Amino acid sequence: MPESTNEPKRFYITTPIYYPSANLHIGHAYCTVMADTMTRYKRMQGYETYFLTGSDEHGQKIERVAKAEGVTPIEYTDKIVATFQALWERLLISNDDFIRTTQPRHMEVVQKIFQTIYEKGDIYKSEYEGHYCTPCETFFTERQLVDGNCPDCGRPTELIKEESYFFKMSKYQDQLLQYIDEHPDFIQPVARRNEMINFIKQGLEDLCISRTTFDWGIPVPINDKHVIYVWFDALTNYISALGYGTDNDDLYQKFWPADIHLVGKDIARFHAIIWPCILMAADLPLPKQVFGHGWVLLNSGKMSKSKGNVVDPNVLLDKYGVDAIRYFLLREISTGSDGYYSEEALVNRINIDLANDYGNLVSRSVAMIDKYFDGIVPAPAATPASEFDAELKALAETVGVDAAAYLEKMDFPNALASIWRLISRANKYIDETAPWVLAKDENKKADLGTVLYNLMECIRMSTILLAPFMPLVPGKVAEQTGQQLEGRTWADGCTWGNVETGVKVCKKEAIFPRIDPKSLDLPKEEVKTEAPKAEAKKETKKEEKTEAKQEEPAEGKAEITYDDFAKLDLRVVEVLECSKVEKADKLLQFKLKMGDEIRTVVSGIAKFYESPEELVGKKLVLVANLAPKKIRGIMSHGMLLSAATDDDSLLQVLQVTHEDIPSGATVC
Ligand code: ME8
Ligand code: MG
Repeated sequence: MPESTNEPKRFYITTPIYYPSANLHIGHAYCTVMADTMTRYKRMQGYETYFLTGSDEHGQKIERVAKAEGVTPIEYTDKIVATFQALWERLLISNDDFIRTTQPRHMEVVQKIFQTIYEKGDIYKSEYEGHYCTPCETFFTERQLVDGNCPDCGRPTELIKEESYFFKMSKYQDQLLQYIDEHPDFIQPVARRNEMINFIKQGLEDLCISRTTFDWGIPVPINDKHVIYVWFDALTNYISALGYGTDNDDLYQKFWPADIHLVGKDIARFHAIIWPCILMAADLPLPKQVFGHGWVLLNSGKMSKSKGNVVDPNVLLDKYGVDAIRYFLLREISTGSDGYYSEEALVNRINIDLANDYGNLVSRSVAMIDKYFDGIVPAPAATPASEFDAELKALAETVGVDAAAYLEKMDFPNALASIWRLISRANKYIDETAPWVLAKDENKKADLGTVLYNLMECIRMSTILLAPFMPLVPGKVAEQTGQQLEGRTWADGCTWGNVETGVKVCKKEAIFPRIDPKSLDLPKEEVKTEAPKAEAKKETKKEEKTEAKQEEPAEGKAEITYDDFAKLDLRVVEVLECSKVEKADKLLQFKLKMGDEIRTVVSGIAKFYESPEELVGKKLVLVANLAPKKIRGIMSHGMLLSAATDDDSLLQVLQVTHEDIPSGATVC
């Protein structure tokens, strides 16, 4: 770590440079938002940061799209790239540079590297025969094709035979394997690292790096009949943008090697194999890490233009604002895995996490300072106001440390969950200390001041820590609380006792107004998505709490009659099979035996069962007459009963342990 050596604290992160062959969608936004959050976090930690994104404009596909539109390739890309830049501005992406592969500063460096490697003898001319997938800009061997089509996108490939330049990638196979072996963090997450190792071990072939069948590319410096293969061109952006090989290479000296190339798992191979081989051939240092993130999927599968299911971030920004979109993407999807986007899930996150948990904490606290202290933030008394003060403070001082540890691993959901532990704890502290009761007793005025001070401190600290994720939030909360929350360091968000007292709060409209899910005009498929059980339960509870306002916390559920109860068909079922649902990390799929019947049930409890197979053979309790529901495309017939702690940190399915009670037996 930089602290322990004299290495300067510098951080260089990149996103892929996106193809301007179509408009950007929520998946691209996801990747760029992660990189931005990481950069903002590192800045708060005192790092000098450099954040690069850009556009990958050459290649046959762009040439064809432009032709179809009746414009030149550069006219075409100019237009689309302007929309990229506009989107990044709206998403508050704080990139330091935007590289376009059509810029001379880039093209010169690509030619230079080609020349260097050629002179070294690692590029040679030969004849190429291969199957080319134009949409993916990738060559495949006969063996790699699936039913004659591209193994990545499934579209037809073209058989191409031509004179080409080849890069001796095979020569670097062992050196690369050794590098990966010696640098366990080089490829992350681990699953991707293993994939890459397996791929390399199957043998690296020399790579065809030039084409003669189209013109829209960077000319090969030694033979202008050829243009350079787009991936050789594109990957070089990571150093051309830093001025590598030019008279002004200060940025290169300062920031190379990159700390993180953040890329989608579809292109991890180019970054973890081809790019390092190019760098080794050019005698340049390798990036410190290639992080291959997962996909943002829709319930209808992968987004694609042809399916017409592409989610435009601009539409969502108009409707929900930048902070909510960023929060959703970072909170909902485990960084290395695939995750799902649906508008319903987005609205749930806004209502539960942002409006109820966080927004309410701010507005309730501000309202109470307004009401009980004429809007002036009170100073704390010398003695604690309650037995809960110490616990609150201890937690407040750990969540920033926990969140930082998660962010260092690019684990955005858990970093946010850490910060939310403080937000939830602070809300609970309001219920525990009941300020509205303290306010009735003039002798308790000092305690009341302490409680409100403590709440303000939780707001101050959590808001500072939220800045990298939701850049507009600190400013908005500052207006309401009178606290200086913008431009703070991470340490400011980890240190208790820095609330500015004596300043005036200012009640305003809710930072995250609640959205009525009924007001949404959701496509059918999104409406029927079921939130995993634990989450759904949490929501009902929170909703009750909000309805019940501050003074009277909700108490249980309404009374029912025996007849109501008798409507439930509760049965003992035996687990025949249990496994995780692919691409849905919260879900378990069960095959259950109920008497003579076999049932499939999907349940959102995967996080509580590390090894789901341990449930096989167990007898559980099923609500057997619950209306069937499709969850992630699987029909689920019933619901398993389980017990959980209030905060859902622990959950166990109910079991029937006596051997002689058969499956199918009634529970009553
Ligand atoms: O591959 N979910 O550009 P590209 C998550 N030009 N991320 C997604 C996504 C989704 N559904 N769809 C796209 C290229 N991405 C090359 C890169 S880099 C030297 C050259 C993200 O426009 C993801 O990061 O196809 C993926 O790797 C990238 O967009 C690909 O963008
Ligand atoms: Mg792609």
